[in-house]
Amino acid sequence: MPQVTVSLISIGSSYTCACLICILAMGRCCKYCRCNGRLLCMCLLPCMMTAHLLLYILVSILVTISYSPPKINIHYIASGISANSELASHPRGPFWNLRLEDSALWNQLQHSWDRQHNPVLRGNKTGIMSAKLLAENEDECVSDCMSHKCSVPRTHDFNSFPEQMRVFVQSMHCREYALLINQPGICGNNDSSFGPMLLMAIKSQVGNFENRQAIRETWGRSGLVKGESTKKGGLVRTVFLLGRQDSSTGPHPDLKNLLELENQKYGDILQWDFKDTFFNLTLKDLLFWQWLQQHCRSAMFVFKGDDDVFVRTGALLDYLHKQWEEHNLWKAYTNETEMNLFVGEVINYAMPNREPSTKYYIPERFYKGVYPPYAGGGGVVYSVSLALRLNEVSKRVRLFPIDDVYLGMCMYRLGLLPSHHPGFLTFDLPHNDRWNPCAYRSVLLVHRRSPKDMLTLWKKLQRPPGRC
Ligand SMILES: *[C@@H]1O[C@H](CO)[C@@H](O)[C@H](O)[C@H]1NC(C)=O
Ligand SMILES: *[C@@H]1O[C@H](CO)[C@@H](O)[C@H](O)[C@H]1NC(C)=O
Ligand SMILES: *[C@@H]1O[C@H](CO)[C@@H](O)[C@H](O)[C@H]1NC(C)=O
Ligand SMILES: *[C@@H]1O[C@H](CO)[C@@H](O)[C@H](O)[C@H]1NC(C)=O
Repeated sequence: MPQVTVSLISIGSSYTCACLICILAMGRCCKYCRCNGRLLCMCLLPCMMTAHLLLYILVSILVTISYSPPKINIHYIASGISANSELASHPRGPFWNLRLEDSALWNQLQHSWDRQHNPVLRGNKTGIMSAKLLAENEDECVSDCMSHKCSVPRTHDFNSFPEQMRVFVQSMHCREYALLINQPGICGNNDSSFGPMLLMAIKSQVGNFENRQAIRETWGRSGLVKGESTKKGGLVRTVFLLGRQDSSTGPHPDLKNLLELENQKYGDILQWDFKDTFFNLTLKDLLFWQWLQQHCRSAMFVFKGDDDVFVRTGALLDYLHKQWEEHNLWKAYTNETEMNLFVGEVINYAMPNREPSTKYYIPERFYKGVYPPYAGGGGVVYSVSLALRLNEVSKRVRLFPIDDVYLGMCMYRLGLLPSHHPGFLTFDLPHNDRWNPCAYRSVLLVHRRSPKDMLTLWKKLQRPPGRC
């Protein structure tokens, strides 16, 4: 480089010299030969030509120096996996935007994981601040996540987070909770390949006995269920996903014995040892996926929803049969064995709720950017093979307090998008139609129905509808 600069300077100065000489020569010409146009021209021409030549050389040298090869975008593949389609490339869109991390805690933490799981940067712990702090003790924290040294680095404005956010941040690195009530045999023998067609996993709370019972008696009945239009049906199994709600987790009456009785009778409760709060709902997804991987891999599809929705199970089975047939056709053509079905009511381009008085409030200091496309949490359906992949990819996505958004994040990380189905109505039907069986013909799910509504509606929908 220095030589180039020196030669540039010399070229520049010789250009200036040449110009000066030209001008001088021109002056002389004019003095002695009583300038006429022709003579002037003859004097000037060689000067001008030399000047232009020098200028040309100068410019071409400059252009050569300032050229740099075009930038190549490198898409990082997460560690442990070569460039197959198992994990998506590093996301590029506005979601997970690396520039957004400066002051938002979640973005910062996620970035540190992205770096750690990135084969190019892996092992280099001199990255950003939080990467350094967390990487050192993260391995110990799997077994003892509640210890103080594991907690997320306190940001300077930690205390300005609302209470429920602070509580979330303090335990957001904890994902392992003991299973208090298990149903190891609900999907049948482990090694048999014949499992339920549909596993219904319903988020409930200890006190919601009435909702659970209404679901068992209506749309969530375990056993062989007939399809609605075709005669094909399928085996349905239902489990309820519960955390803990007793005197140790808040002002709750102790319903432990009642729950035990209920479980003895129906054997459909899964309960984990964590506090059942709104911001802990994401844990139910994570722990359910782990459970599914261990105990119910033979199922084909999962319905995951709340205990205040109404599902037309028969119609859902019809839909799933159709999807399965289409998948088999597709498989025959493409050799693709994995089925990546994920349907629900899809919400695109949602912004985090910034209204501090609402329960969905996410402060800007916690998360920046838009949400990835996600399906409303009232109820979604996905294939078990996808659930197993979600289980894997979730190990690389930081916990997010809103469960349906977290699911969207994991999907995004897999490079997949949830599909929209107009039959999933998490915002209910128009008021006049709520008791009209005909209005339900194209509906798969509605939100929200009380236990009493579920029973009434179920009865109405059992009768074959007249003319609609
Ligand atoms: C680690 O990262 C720092 C800054 O990001 C860089 O200066 C250093 O060379 C890297 N070390 C290795 C071994 O890649
Ligand atoms: C989630 O559950 C854990 C374990 O019980 C608890 O320590 C934590 O505070 C809970 N988080 C929220 C946000 O309630
Ligand atoms: C079923 O298989 C999985 C993995 O193949 C294993 O982790 C689990 O313990 C098994 N469950 C039972 C009940 O045998
Ligand atoms: C389809 O899958 C089989 C078994 O995995 C493999 O042997 C075969 O080469 C695949 N064919 C194509 C066209 O990919």
